[in-house]
Amino acid sequence: MSFRQFAFGLTATFGFAWLAVVIVPFFMMRSVEPVAFTEAADGKEGIYHPKTTGRVTNGAEVYASNGCYNCHTQLIRPTYAGNELGRPDWAGLKMDEERGDTRRESNVFDYQGEKFAQIGLNRLGPDLSNVGRRVEAEYAKGGDAKLWLMMHLYDPRANPQRPTSTCPSHRFLFEEKEVLGQVPQDALPVESPEGTVVIPSPDANELVDYLLSLKRDDAVPASMNYGPATKPAEAKPAAPQG
Ligand code: HEC
Repeated sequence: MSFRQFAFGLTATFGFAWLAVVIVPFFMMRSVEPVAFTEAADGKEGIYHPKTTGRVTNGAEVYASNGCYNCHTQLIRPTYAGNELGRPDWAGLKMDEERGDTRRESNVFDYQGEKFAQIGLNRLGPDLSNVGRRVEAEYAKGGDAKLWLMMHLYDPRANPQRPTSTCPSHRFLFEEKEVLGQVPQDALPVESPEGTVVIPSPDANELVDYLLSLKRDDAVPASMNYGPATKPAEAKPAAPQG
């Protein structure tokens, strides 16, 4: 192999990766246009406005600084890259009490208002795109969703349904506080030394607010999403044989 061939090979190898990973996505997402609902596919007209709830920015920072993204994704893959809509409660809820099937793929608008899109590095734990919805509708059904998340952060293995959870405990986000008079309302029901209670730090409160805000299941135009509830596009006529 001559030096020229080597240099060309090197440039082509890195150049192609750079094109595919940096340049193509940049041009695809640089100017995101508003997407419209169409009467035929969605049964209504108008422009899609993403809905986000709560204060997300501070909590997203706590999420990032504790490395939650190392084990948790926030990305429901586009179906062409492997369908994830079959899961009953990741991409939305299969049986939302009010809206029926709300499952959908993630889209660029889902990360609006966040400094970084926390799409995640690995998926050792469940995807958290819709964890707020899931906790409210399923784990803490009718109960206190905030407390469910606090308890999970404090000690994931304390949950009788998850004795072998490998989610790390984030006990350092909580403080032991001496009780002077009334017990604070946000005290966790956990053991602590005589005369003290465990309460969430401001970081824990922000993180939990952020997690509860993760409900990326509002209805999007069918043109943006393939969901079990939307009909796939008409099958193309089969290619002529031979
Ligand atoms: C070492 C990898 C790892 C890290 C880091 C991690 N988790 Fe987890 N997490 C897991 C695993 C594995 C599970 C599944 C087991 C379980 O349900 O407890 C999980 C479960 C969860 C759940 C329950 C989700 C559900 O739908 O059942 C929540 C909420 C959660 N983690 C939040 C967090 C937050 C917030 C952080 C950062 C402060 C974090 N995790 C950091 C591995 C991790």
